[in-house]
This record gives sequence, structure tokens and C-alpha cells, in this order.
Amino acid sequence: MADRFYVTTPIYYVNDVPHIGHAYTTVACDALARYQRAAGREVFFLTGTDEHGQKVEKSAAERGERSIDLADRVVTRFQHLWEVLDISLSRFVRTTEPAHRAAVEELFRRVKANGDIYLGAYEDWYCTPCETFWTESQLMEGNCPDCNRPTEKLKEASYFFRMSKYQDALLAHIEAHPEFIQPVSRRNEILSFVREGLRDLSISRTTFSWGIPVPDDPEHVLYVWFDALTNYLTGVGFPGDPETYGRFWPCDVHVIGKDILRFHAVYWPTFLLSAGVPLPKTVFAHGWWTVEGKKMSKSLGNVVDPEAMAEAYGVDAFRYFVLREVPFGLDGDFSRDALVHRINSDLANDLGNLVSRVLAMLGKYRDGVVPRVSSFGHEGADEELREKLAAVRGEVAQAMGELAFHKALTAVWSFIGLVNKYVDTTAPWTLAKEPEQAGRLDQVLYNMCEALRCVGLLVFPFLPGTGTEIWRRLGMERPAAEGLLEELAHWGGITPGLQTERGESLFPRIEAS
Ligand code: MSP
Repeated sequence: MADRFYVTTPIYYVNDVPHIGHAYTTVACDALARYQRAAGREVFFLTGTDEHGQKVEKSAAERGERSIDLADRVVTRFQHLWEVLDISLSRFVRTTEPAHRAAVEELFRRVKANGDIYLGAYEDWYCTPCETFWTESQLMEGNCPDCNRPTEKLKEASYFFRMSKYQDALLAHIEAHPEFIQPVSRRNEILSFVREGLRDLSISRTTFSWGIPVPDDPEHVLYVWFDALTNYLTGVGFPGDPETYGRFWPCDVHVIGKDILRFHAVYWPTFLLSAGVPLPKTVFAHGWWTVEGKKMSKSLGNVVDPEAMAEAYGVDAFRYFVLREVPFGLDGDFSRDALVHRINSDLANDLGNLVSRVLAMLGKYRDGVVPRVSSFGHEGADEELREKLAAVRGEVAQAMGELAFHKALTAVWSFIGLVNKYVDTTAPWTLAKEPEQAGRLDQVLYNMCEALRCVGLLVFPFLPGTGTEIWRRLGMERPAAEGLLEELAHWGGITPGLQTERGESLFPRIEAS
């Protein structure tokens, strides 16, 4: 297995403030990045902001500010949110950075040197008040889909990319690499799109100026998607830092929402084929969230603010909900009721309770000190616990390989369920009444602590704060972030003699309102 892993989120537009859709992709990538690190790999985790283009230029002009000032302001909101949500980034790319411009220019030069750029005319429907071009199919009864005013057919000089030339190569690649586009329903969509034929792509504009100028023809700015997609190369040092680039490219997975799949699974790979850059291994498109059954929109006023959610319910509760509630790849619905239900049942009842009962018993019977044992026990319940852990480890690895976060969490929770059952069946409160059972009591208390150590390690990628806190309460000598999944292979990793701490309830129940 490769010892490096490179994962990316899309880069987010700065003409909108962060919402649950942005947080969703980023949290999923973070869980994956943390999991891969725990699996012993060197991980590069990239996110950033998409700052150029007509929309940003227009929003800034309307507010009477410079485009860069608008971008600077919104970027800090994203950066702050990633801190709040415990996102373990390696690098945050801004498309207005000089390093990014250099990467875009280099990619463009390579594509051009390959004979794949030509000057032509771009002809489409133009809405003058919105200063936006629309394709025929985007129009609403001939009018602008944004402002509903009439549009006119306009021609503009534009550079084109010979995308048509790469139709066969792209098809062959998709067919030969079933893992390239996931999930499979999305792969089929792209296959039929490509089979219908690829047209050349207009990749420059002259009607606005907020963008990266076309090398050697600054009258034109590069199409925002050519600019934006290149961030995945910029992030790992293309072209200035060949060492980092060589270590991490090709990317293991671009995680994106289903609405931007075509850009990632058709445009991007054809640019790369033309430039002679290896293709990313996987593009994974997740589904969309509705809110209480409705499409999320500013006009409905139902946009979910992830920071407010984290503040009200806790960062880990929010992370857990989005990853557990919906199979990654499908659409889902966000509602307060569903969130509260998950918190109360899975987090408060199952996980929170387990941690507090084990540490309470250890406090009561052994002054909170992890007991020393000569054997881990061979009763049915002891064996079952160890076997379950081995099985869960495999299930989590398999699920994470498929980006099936909900399955990984279901597996982890099946272990948590079994540890709760272990507490019930071994009944330390009964053993404690019989002095001749002191050795067995040590054994079951030890096994419970060891199980908690494993739970801390297993939940850490998804709930980093909780994993960290479980290890801290156990008195572990190092933080959970340094734990490796390999340590789950041998029962008995927790050191006898550690002083544990009971602590407050990890997830207090939330009363239904
Ligand atoms: N800037 C482009 C991406 C360029 S990547 C080279 C862009 N930005 S975006 O800010 O509009 O959207 C970013 C991501 O948010 C997309 O992956 C999109 O799918 C996701 N979501 C936006 N609304 C969403 C939901 N309601 N639910 C889930 N994800 C959603 O597109």
C-alpha cells in the first residue's frame, strides 16, 4: 500500500459565505485525512478558495470595493470555520496567490505547446445588465435565468481548448479505471456524456478582467474553471517545488459535490492529458443536503450555518451527524430533529454512557488506576470483545477505502455496543462484592479500559475532540492524534498503573423542544 495520500476538497467561491454544503465536503475529507494518517501514511490535505471571475468582480463592484478586498474578507470566514471544525489542513490555496498564477500559466503553456489552444469566437446569449453569457439551454424562455430580462446573441473572441481531441483517450481511461469516477451511478452519467461527443471548450473571456491573464495575450483572462481546477496542482508545489509535487501527485482523491462532477471528470482530465500530467486516481462526487425537506437557499432563509451548529450542539456532534446520517454519495436531509436524535442515541446513550460508566467503576473499585493483570481473560465475553475488535478494524478499513463513512461509523458503533454489553454481562458491581473475584475484577476493568483506548483511536478521525478527550481521561502518555491503527492489532496496549479521570459527561442529552 502506498505510504502517501493526497486528498482535496473543491475550492470554495468567495461570493458566498460558508454553509453546510462546504462544511460537509471538508469534514468528510478531514475524516479521511485523519484516518489515512492513523493508518501510517503521510497525508497532504488541500482546500482553498476560488476567487476570480465575473461574479466576484460584480459583487465587489456593487459594494464599491475591490475584488481582492472582498476575497480577503470572505477567505477569513472559511479559514476560521475550518479551525472551529477541527480541520487538519496541510495547505489552503487561494487562486489569487502568485504561486497559483504560476501554476496556471505553466499548465496553459504546456497545453498550448501541445497544439491544443486556438483563437476562435465564442457565441452565446448575453445578458447585458448581468454581464453574463448563457447557453441556449440555460435561458428561461429566451430570458436571463438570473434576472429574467431579455438576452442577445453576442460573439466574443476567445481561446479554445481542443477538448474534442481527448474524447477517446478519456473514454478509454474511464473504462480501464473503474475507480476513477465514483460512485458508479456518477461514472455512468459521465460515460454517457462523453460518448455523446466532446466539443472544444472556450477557455478565455474578454468581457471582464478579474482573473489570470492568458499568457502572451493579456486582453483575455482565463476561464475560471481552468484557473480553479489547477489549484490541485498548485497545492502540492507544481511547478516550483518538484520534490513535494513528486511525492503527492497524482492525487488520490478529489472529493466534490455532484453538481461539479463534469468539470472534474471531463474538463480536468482532458487538460491534464493534453499537458502530459498524470490523472488523479479518483474523483468522488457526494450528494446534496436539503434542509427540513426543502432546497437550501438564501431566498428561503434556510441556509444552515455550520459554525452556529457547532456552537449549539458541539463540533463533534455536527461532524458525526453529517458523516453518519447519509451514505456518502447520496442526497440527504438536514433537520434539527434528526441531529438531536443522533446525538441522544448514538453519542449520549452509546458512547458517552460507556465512557462514564467505565471510568466511574474504575474510580469506585480501583481508585481510577488501570489494573495490572497477568492475563486478559479467556471467558466467552473476553474472547468476543477481542474478536469483535479485529473484525471492526477490517470493516472500517474496507469502508474508508470506499469513502463509506457511514459504514465505518456503523462498524465502530457496533464495537461500542459490544463493549456496553461486556460491561453488562461481566457485571463488575457483582464481582466487587466477592473478595475472591478481585483478580477477575481487575481483568474486566482492564479490558474495559483497553476497549476505551481502542474506541478513542477508532473515533478519532471522525470525532477528533472526543478521541483526544477519551485518551486524556485514560491518562494515556501521548495524544490520540499520535495513535496508529496498527495498535489495534494487539490487545493490551494500555499501560497498567495509568491514573484515569472520570470527567464530565461527554455528550449531555438534549431535551426535545
Ligand atoms: N468554486 C467551485 C469549485 C471549484 S473546484 C476546482 C464551486 N464552489 S462552491 O463554493 O459553489 O461549492 C463548493 C462545493 O459545495 C461543491 O462541491 C458543492 O457540491 C457543495 N455544495 C453546495 N451546496 C451544497 C449542498 N446543499 N449540499 C452538499 N453540498 C453542496 O463550486
